[in-house]
Order: sequence, then structure tokens, then C-alpha cells
Amino acid sequence: LQTLPPVRLAQKYFQIFPDERDPLWQNPCHDKRHKDIWSKEKTCDRLPKFLVIGPQKTGSTALHSFLTLHPAITSSFPSTVTFEEVQFFSGPNYQRGIDWYMDFFPVPSNASTDFLFEKSANYFDTETAPKRAAALLPRAKIITILINPADRAHSWYQRAHQDPVTLNYTFHEVITAGPSSPAALLSLHRRCLQPGAYSSHLERWLHHYQPSQLLMVDGVQLRSSPAHVMDGIQKFLGVTPYYNYTQALMYDFKLFHILGFWCQKVEAGRSRCLGKSKGRKYPEMNPESRSFLSEYYREHNVELLRLLKRLGQPLPVWLRDELHNAS
Ligand code: A3P
Repeated sequence: LQTLPPVRLAQKYFQIFPDERDPLWQNPCHDKRHKDIWSKEKTCDRLPKFLVIGPQKTGSTALHSFLTLHPAITSSFPSTVTFEEVQFFSGPNYQRGIDWYMDFFPVPSNASTDFLFEKSANYFDTETAPKRAAALLPRAKIITILINPADRAHSWYQRAHQDPVTLNYTFHEVITAGPSSPAALLSLHRRCLQPGAYSSHLERWLHHYQPSQLLMVDGVQLRSSPAHVMDGIQKFLGVTPYYNYTQALMYDFKLFHILGFWCQKVEAGRSRCLGKSKGRKYPEMNPESRSFLSEYYREHNVELLRLLKRLGQPLPVWLRDELHNAS
């Protein structure tokens, strides 16, 4: 039997199996061989039971804040670097390994009834996220929120507007950019529009998770009737005790704004809403951009309709309206 010193052995190994250079973390407790060498001090319970995967600008922060009101649901600790989100499965943090990830979660007092979760809104459209998530959390439930992709793109642009590159371009320029456009504009175009190709992103998640593990929340309904949506989410998760969101939330008219939002009810007649960066007031999308985006997303929306019918999931009103108006 021949062997090599550890580093050379590793080099040899990765020469023979180059695909394994990229780690794919699995739950140590799902494999006896791994569990046996996993430290006795550690627990596999510090992992989420469900993920809110976004996409961005669909109401994911509101959903996160409503979920944390539930007595049996606990969010990950906020990251100080990535807008509070852990963003483990979607980027360079993944290389930091599962101890790094687990440190974002408390040790649950009762692992079977406590529901840990995290929300990272860029998981939805990150190519590698479903595969990585399914390797570590094969039994997790996955929640995604969908609004009209045209509105999502518009909201994303308004938020990105603080960025000096975005300031150089109008929304219409961003969405209509073509192959001959400058690289910075093309990058904005891609980041603005790509997450809205819902059906292709969802198919990727469905490649790694069973349909019964996936819930698609209508973001328009989440905004207008959050208590009703939260009831559906509680059922989907199978979390107890039942939490009465009708009593926990109140509508805040925001005296000087046209917009009103559902917020957490604190003391009699007072509410706690999300920060200023959510639900901002900005000009409506111009009709030219809207019709461009209707056309741009038409095939994706038709595919989404097929997918939802295939899965027996309800069709959001915005999707019916969009396809009706486009036909
Ligand atoms: P706008 O800022 O464009 O209005 P995300 O948290 O995923 O980035 O989504 C932000 C969007 O959530 C906001 O978009 C806002 O419309 C929407 N939203 C839905 N319910 C909300 C609520 N209760 N409070 C604040 N924003 C909410």
C-alpha cells in the first residue's frame, strides 16, 4: 500500500476528482460516517427548518418580520455585512463552511417544535443555491414570494437608484439595453430583469426539492391581506401553536403618504413598521416601459402559469391580469 503526505495526497485526489474541488456541504447527522467524526460538542439542530428565498423586492422583509412574531419561529441572527441576510448558499460565504453557517442560529430549546429559518432574497435566482441548499437541508421547506415581474424590476431600479451607475440611466434605458450597450448598463439590465424569469428559477428549485416542500406566496396578497397569507404559511409549515396575525397586525395609513402598509401592532393604536427603505414613494412606471416588460416577460409568465397549474397551486391575481391584458 502506497500513500503520500497529506497535502500531496489532497493534490493527487483533486487531480483525479476535479469536480470535488467545490465543496458541497451535507448535514453531518445524515451520514453515520460523518456523524462519527463530528465533534460531540456540536449539534445538527442549529440549522433552519425553512428558507425564505425571495426574490428581492417582493415583500421578503415584511414576510421576515411577520414570521418572527410567531412564538415558535426564530430567525437567523442578522449579518452585519450583507443587509442582515446570511447569504450562505448564494456566494463566497459558502466556502466558510457549515460551522460558520450554524453560528447564525441559536441552539433551539426544543428541536422538534422550534422553527429556525433564514431569509436571503438572492437565493431565488442564484444558479448554485438550490443544489447547495438541498445538500445541507434536504427536508427544509422553501418559501418564495412572487409579484408581477415588471413591478419587481421597477422597484429594484428605484432602490438601486442610490447607486451612482444607475443614476446615469433611466429605467427605460436599463430594461431595453441590448448587446451593444456599455458593460455597466448591461450589468444593471441583467440584475434588474433576470430574477423576474420566475419559471426557470422555480424549475431549478423543483429539480432539488419536492413540490410539496415549496410554497409560492402571492406578494400582492401578502401586502394587502397579510393575516390571511400568514395563516396559509402556518399550515404549510405545520407550526404550532396557531398564531393569530389578525390581532398582531394593524394597517398604518402613513399620514403624509399615499401608501399604507400592514405593520406590527405594538401598544394600543400604535404600530411598528419596516424601515424607510421599504414602501417608498416613487413615480409610476411609464406605460411604454410597462408594455415593453409585458412583452419581455410574456413567455416566462405563460410558463409560470403552466407550472402553477401542474403543481395545483393557486394562480395569483396579478398573473391572470397580466396574461389577460397581454393576450
Ligand atoms: P417598494 O419599496 O418598491 O414599495 P423586499 O423586502 O423584498 O425588498 O420588498 C420590498 C417591498 O415590499 C416594498 O417595495 C413594498 O412595496 C413591499 N411590502 C409588502 N408588504 C409590506 C409591508 N407590510 N411593509 C412594507 N413594505 C411592504
